[in-house]
Amino acid sequence: MNGPIGVVTIDGPGGAGKGTIARVLAERLGWHLLDSGAIYRLLALASLRADMGPGEVDRLAALAEALDIRFPTAGPEAGEVILDGAVVSDLIRQEACGERASVLAAVPVVRQALLDRQRAFRQPPGLVADGRDMGTVVFPDAPVKIFLTASAGERARRRHKQLMEQGVAANLADLLQELRARDQRDTQRSVAPLKPAEDAVTIDTTDLSVEAVVNAVMERVEARL
Ligand code: DC
Repeated sequence: MNGPIGVVTIDGPGGAGKGTIARVLAERLGWHLLDSGAIYRLLALASLRADMGPGEVDRLAALAEALDIRFPTAGPEAGEVILDGAVVSDLIRQEACGERASVLAAVPVVRQALLDRQRAFRQPPGLVADGRDMGTVVFPDAPVKIFLTASAGERARRRHKQLMEQGVAANLADLLQELRARDQRDTQRSVAPLKPAEDAVTIDTTDLSVEAVVNAVMERVEARL
């Protein structure tokens, strides 16, 4: 492949299957993976630890710029998420971090402060980028843009199953309500709202297996790259 380093963007609401699809796709292509939601979650965790409120925008922007995070791909910490030298992979998945991440993600200076950090993941041989604004804002020139959706009920069921497997008690009706509130915040914010890029292909994953979705995306990748 000649020209700029290839990027496949996978955007969509929480629970649409982005994380799984992006991981399998990156493995299949042998490309790097950017879990941009993890960056927002790391900022959320760091801000909670620093007792910083969502309204303290200057402090938040400074924290976002200085955030000491790592995503090791080799060695004993491969696959873990590291904040200030310590593994926080499970901590950032907790509801409190997800909730705060969604609030911070609506703050324009926070998004701006995280842009270069996300773009730095674009390294040879290529990148699969998972998030909300990968195709619209962070990598607008990506040759392949995918927007994954699924019904709210199915997304809540997937989240419920995931929590059960982790041994975390959860109520399906509460999860559905939280998911709708987060959808509302992610799609209604004024900066980089969750929406498909004009040149994105939308795939509804409600009734599709992971394999079927990955194959559909691979077809697109092979046609474009
Ligand atoms: O995908 P996730 O649940 O880990 O993301 C956590 C929050 O971060 C989510 O509510 C929306 C926000 N986010 C965002 O605004 N832009 C991104 N590119 C990724 C995540």
